[in-house]
Amino acid sequence: DETKAGVKGLIDSGITKVPKIFIHPEALQNNPSNPKNTNPIFPLIDLQNINNNKKEIVKQIQEASETWGFFQVINHGIPMSILDEILHGARHFHEQDVDIKKPYYSRDVARNVMYNSNFELFSEKSLGANWRDSLYSVMAPYPAKPEELPDTCREIVIEYSNHVMKLGYTLLELLSQGLGLEPNHLKEMGCAEGLGILCNYYPSCPQPELAIGTSKHADNDFFTVLLQDDIGGLQVLHKDQWVDVPPTHGALVINIGDILQLISNDKYKSIEHRVLANKIGPRISVANFFTTGALTSSRIYGPIEELLSKDNPPKYRATTVKDFFEYSSKKGLDGKSNLDHYK
Ligand code: SIN
Ligand code: FE2
Repeated sequence: DETKAGVKGLIDSGITKVPKIFIHPEALQNNPSNPKNTNPIFPLIDLQNINNNKKEIVKQIQEASETWGFFQVINHGIPMSILDEILHGARHFHEQDVDIKKPYYSRDVARNVMYNSNFELFSEKSLGANWRDSLYSVMAPYPAKPEELPDTCREIVIEYSNHVMKLGYTLLELLSQGLGLEPNHLKEMGCAEGLGILCNYYPSCPQPELAIGTSKHADNDFFTVLLQDDIGGLQVLHKDQWVDVPPTHGALVINIGDILQLISNDKYKSIEHRVLANKIGPRISVANFFTTGALTSSRIYGPIEELLSKDNPPKYRATTVKDFFEYSSKKGLDGKSNLDHYK
């Protein structure tokens, strides 16, 4: 039962030292103020007037997806009040009494809704526990029933995810065009049929130099829409250096996932990222993962034909999303790329 209280439960019990399982090799190599850091500017893309400014926006998204695998968007159409509310709802869920959270506790990935802490510890090659708790729900194509969602955040989880889904369609059009494809190409491939939401809670950490909030990984989906609060700590690997993703009020962080890298034949990059543990907390983030429709679908994804040529042969074999998920979750957050397995 203790583990069901999550990392937050540890903090609530008054610990002043990080328990051994949280001492993480990645934290020990931490170099947030790497002297080589040349302070590259993290891409920020304004989606205002998208219809009059399509060409320029497509170009910016294409460049960011090729070089960073990450960018932030502003004027994305989701009202500020909705962003504030989902951060608040996520926080509210995690700050409830353990007895109220317990019924949602699960490590069964077949569940529609689950709350847990350090799920990754149970995969084969986990390097150590992460200083965070999470609430997950599937939102599409077969969403959790409203009554399955915790009532502290039910309405906003649904409303926010509906907004994110709409934004996802817009992003897919721009991403398609950035590849030189018809605007509806990626959507028709089913790249935004499935949606999951993950509400993360990173408690303040008494020894942030020893632990890691989320260990280094690349996302195993098509793409991710992430909302972070103003605490900071999210970093992406850019030209061999960890670069901070600056918390920007009202902005959303978008990143390319492994399967989009695979189908774009490496044109777009699924880039490794991590979250540092922090003395200041809690930090809240909400990630929405775009996947294919039914995860059991036998639809296969390989490098898109239209992108291939004699000079650009396929770099990957085709796979189902189900196979990709099974492989990547079994492999766990071991700091290595899931894509190597499909080369
Ligand atoms: C993640 O990439 O899994 C979490 C990102 C964040 O919390 O900012
Ligand atoms: Fe991630």
